[in-house]
Amino acid sequence: MTSYSIPRPTAGDITDLIAADHRLLEDLMRDMRDSEADRDAARAAFSDLLVAHSEAEEETVYPHLKSKKVIDGEEQEHGDKEHAATNEALLHLLQAKGTDTQKFEDALEEVAEVLNHHIGEEELSILNPAKEDASQDLRESLAEAWTSKRNSLLDSGCGTLESVEKIVKKAYDDGLLPNDEQPEG
Ligand SMILES: [Fe+2]
Ligand SMILES: [Fe+2]
Repeated sequence: MTSYSIPRPTAGDITDLIAADHRLLEDLMRDMRDSEADRDAARAAFSDLLVAHSEAEEETVYPHLKSKKVIDGEEQEHGDKEHAATNEALLHLLQAKGTDTQKFEDALEEVAEVLNHHIGEEELSILNPAKEDASQDLRESLAEAWTSKRNSLLDSGCGTLESVEKIVKKAYDDGLLPNDEQPEG
């Protein structure tokens, strides 16, 4: 079994660190599509990284960029909503038992669609403004806060099926996902 070890940086420039994770998430999606790769191991690493990355952004990056007026409330809320949609697609991926089934491949396609969209939008509407309008000091202090939250989430096993179920349920409760679509039970 391939083991994926996710890097745990602790300092740097927040815009570089977030972009590096995006590239890693893209690599893991490519491995999940590859029938010769250890798709199950790639899925586990992808799930841990996606959850830790996004939760840490919501908690430590978006609010500070908003308070420094680098992004506005609408951009912050849009990011939170896209994370919720991505987590819901991730839940479907984790619910697929095998990795060589149509169910897995359909769920993977759904994840890729929402995540690729979010990565593109975040780099354009959040990371670029942060590069242009946030000071070096702010970008470094955000890097410390984000990596610390991200790394502790990674250590806690945040990407298990049970954990993602809870996160998606909370997103419905918080109104980040349209309520008419909430699955029964
Ligand atoms: Fe991101
Ligand atoms: Fe994000």
